[in-house]
Amino acid sequence: MAEMKAIVFDVYGTLFDVQSVQEACEQQFPEKGESISSLWRSKQLEYAFLRQLMGQYEPFNDVTRDALRYALETHECKYKDEIIQKLMDAYNQLRPYEETEEVLQQVQDKKLAVFSNGPDGMLDPLLRNADLAQYFDAIVSVDEIKQYKPATASYAYLLKQLDVKREEVLFLSSNSWDIAGAANFGFHTAWINRKGAPAERLGHNPDKEYENLKGLIEKNNL
Ligand code: LAC
Repeated sequence: MAEMKAIVFDVYGTLFDVQSVQEACEQQFPEKGESISSLWRSKQLEYAFLRQLMGQYEPFNDVTRDALRYALETHECKYKDEIIQKLMDAYNQLRPYEETEEVLQQVQDKKLAVFSNGPDGMLDPLLRNADLAQYFDAIVSVDEIKQYKPATASYAYLLKQLDVKREEVLFLSSNSWDIAGAANFGFHTAWINRKGAPAERLGHNPDKEYENLKGLIEKNNL
């Protein structure tokens, strides 16, 4: 593997635990929090993929809000706009995983970037609330090109922001579809397989697979 000059991190589920959204849902709708937040996440991604296929891009915060409404109505939950806003705010206060900051501190010799479907309006407060923005050279959102991951155009846009060669980039994500998209574009990839999920059948396997971000530094794979 060529010398990696840049390491790029996905956000939701990779640097940050979306579990705290589940707790916010459980607080508002007892006994339904886990089911609501799980449907919310899957519908959020499904809407992004379908909008990409239809060429009907809307910013990820709007897609996230639409997915939340769908998840609440599926669970026959009555809600007012302030509940929607409270649950949306939970996305700006996600907890980083316990290893996130330690790993970022140990790879400061590389160019570090975040690459997310989330627009700046979601990423900036999230990274600021967690005091993690300081570790990154670039915070890149697909909203700048209005092409959702895993479209190759989105990774191509990211590469332009990094000013390194494609083969000098290591891309990390807990989302296996994102890993397939990054590998399809030509990045080296490390799948952060936190849940021990089986491999996807999407034509591309990750170069590395770790249980959490520590694999990046423990196995000295840079
Ligand atoms: C992101 C979501 C899709 O950060 O994980 O792009």
